[in-house]
Amino acid sequence: MRVIRKSTYEEASMACAELIASQIRLKPDCKIGLATGSTPVGTYKALVDMYKAGSLDFSKVTSANLDEYRGLGGDHDQSYRYFMNTNLFDHVNIDKNKTYVPNGLEADAEKACTDYDKILESLGHLDIQLLGIGGDGHIGFNEPADAFCVNTQCIDLEEQTIKDNARLFFNGDMSAVPTQAYTMGIGYIMKSETVILMATGAGKKDIVEKAFCGPVTPYVPASILQLHPNVVVIGDEAAISDAVVAAAK
Ligand code: F6R
Repeated sequence: MRVIRKSTYEEASMACAELIASQIRLKPDCKIGLATGSTPVGTYKALVDMYKAGSLDFSKVTSANLDEYRGLGGDHDQSYRYFMNTNLFDHVNIDKNKTYVPNGLEADAEKACTDYDKILESLGHLDIQLLGIGGDGHIGFNEPADAFCVNTQCIDLEEQTIKDNARLFFNGDMSAVPTQAYTMGIGYIMKSETVILMATGAGKKDIVEKAFCGPVTPYVPASILQLHPNVVVIGDEAAISDAVVAAAK
């Protein structure tokens, strides 16, 4: 595990964008796993700036997103497809036909999950998977559970996750946050060549420490990343404690 600790959110975002950009420059047809939420917004902005400055070409890139709310279509302004379009895809030259997000409008949960797994299988492993971390340690929307879930699943979101998402999105209205989501499984996340977990802000400090310095347990889903051979934790000083820096090997 490598840890990159920067003073500010902006610097951490730039470091994260630089890693992703290097991968794209090294392998223009790379496959990248993307996350939504507040954490990667600065990273996507930096990637858009690089594209606009002519130093980055997304034309051969394929992307697969971690998750989508069950019941929301891509034109719903709180859906994750919409988030990706407005924060990244609409502003760069990526081929949207090669950007994958679980189908939130597929009401048959089993079908939605197997359909997404088929897509992921057809992609093979990803070159880079970008992750945020939930306050309860979730990655993607893999919430704390008795076991790590390998494949794409339909998940009941924890109350804390619904609260967190309402605070940042859905105009603060908890009742508007869908209670279920489709999420890429932890098995596929772990197959990625490199995993970048980005965490910023004091609110993430305890959970990041638990995830990387505590026991590996499905009750802290991100803790499984301790077993991944190539993880980079990027964050600001507020989120990355000295213990996490010391845990880097
Ligand atoms: C989003 C996702 C989630 C978020 C996590 C942190 O696609 O998979 O795991 O990364 O909930 O969200 P923020 O960044 O809003 O704190």
